[in-house]
Amino acid sequence: MTSTVESAHKPPDATGEPATTPLTIGVDAYISKDYARAEGELLWSKVWQQVGRVEEIAKVGDYLTYDILDDSIIITRTGPDSISAYHNVCSHRGRRLVDTPPGEHEARGNCRSFVCGFHGWTYDLEGKNTWAAEKADWPTGLTENKTRLTPVQVDTWGGWVWINMDPDCEPLRSYLEPAASLLDPFQLENMRYRWRKWLVFDCNWKVALEAFMETYHVPYTHPEFREFGSFLGWSRYQGRHSNIGYDAPKGMEENQAKLRVADGPDVRIATTELQNFTWENANTNTTRTLVDAAARLVDELPEGTPPGEVLRHWLDSAMKDDANRGVIWPTVDPEVIAKSGTAWQIFPNFQIGHALNNMLCYSARPYGDDPDKCIFEAAVYELFPEGEEPETTWEYTPADDAAWRTVLPQDFYNMSAVQKGMKARGFTGPKPNPYRERSIVNLHHNLAMYMGTGAPTDLG
Ligand code: FES
Ligand SMILES: [Fe+2]
Repeated sequence: MTSTVESAHKPPDATGEPATTPLTIGVDAYISKDYARAEGELLWSKVWQQVGRVEEIAKVGDYLTYDILDDSIIITRTGPDSISAYHNVCSHRGRRLVDTPPGEHEARGNCRSFVCGFHGWTYDLEGKNTWAAEKADWPTGLTENKTRLTPVQVDTWGGWVWINMDPDCEPLRSYLEPAASLLDPFQLENMRYRWRKWLVFDCNWKVALEAFMETYHVPYTHPEFREFGSFLGWSRYQGRHSNIGYDAPKGMEENQAKLRVADGPDVRIATTELQNFTWENANTNTTRTLVDAAARLVDELPEGTPPGEVLRHWLDSAMKDDANRGVIWPTVDPEVIAKSGTAWQIFPNFQIGHALNNMLCYSARPYGDDPDKCIFEAAVYELFPEGEEPETTWEYTPADDAAWRTVLPQDFYNMSAVQKGMKARGFTGPKPNPYRERSIVNLHHNLAMYMGTGAPTDLG
């Protein structure tokens, strides 16, 4: 997989990781109906999946549902420190126990028991059957085992609730490594949604996620960013996960992270402009505090201040501003900031774009078993003063809705075009950049381990 020949024309990887042999990926994983159907059995029933935030089910009896292919899971808080999950299907004759209202992202509510709409069988928060009409008609047949809801593994990390349908699955924590250890210092569990939107794309879930898994596309899909410097970066294998970050010059290692200064004749001004542009056109990857602190750089620092000092000053002053309103940033070792980069691709379908006081996350999953469609979610999180967290819900927002502003739609417009192109007779298979798009290759290495097919092959 790794080549002994270092690629001379490539910028050095921050870790000195050797260049990767050029590989190609088959298109079946993206377009095959059989592959999409097989994912249900071989992939989705075996992996940990993020299903929501812990604070979404804050009170005992709060619940939400998560649907994936033919499966639906109920996740509910059973006690101040306990969450349970089980398959959302009545054990009597198989009615879906909690219906997702048409057009809604999920079902949610608060209850003490779940009552089936068909014949009234009732289950407590732990999934135990507590009532069945005319139970005496089954003299010995309705044991607790036969009537309880089938449990699903559930755990929390990073402030998210995760489920796994495989009763023998590896614990969540070890599944998430090394991402969990490198992201723990960021205290992601303290972040709260600023906004969250979802939609259905006309592409495979992998096409949607892969649009955000690399920086190679940035100058071409988002040409407006060119004037703020280079946004190219590395991507790294991290076991079943991957991460990406920006290429940073020596001595500016922290500039591999999300909160970075812009290039330009005057770094202070360029950073201010980049922050304004990002705030207005993406509404991601920054906060009001960061934007305001950037706007003061030109008054607070002399012209010619080196980029490293501009970065330090900007972050320190934003951190102080936040502290004054009760928002305490985590203290993260600069080495960890550099190593963790800008985003993690958590196998198989979740991306965490972390930063010190905000983050941007994406997830994608199949829409039914149609390989040409997926459900996509984008959410921005932020550290808020206690009690000032906004109330949010999942808003269905089509790709052409102005609420997405201008940057994300640039990514969206590639997706259905890629899905179509993958099917074209003339296409000979994806050829990810061995340096900047390694995370895509790694996704398919790992997918192949679950699926038994589709491993990347030598491009030759
Ligand atoms: S199917 Fe649920 S009570 Fe009959
Ligand atoms: Fe993009």
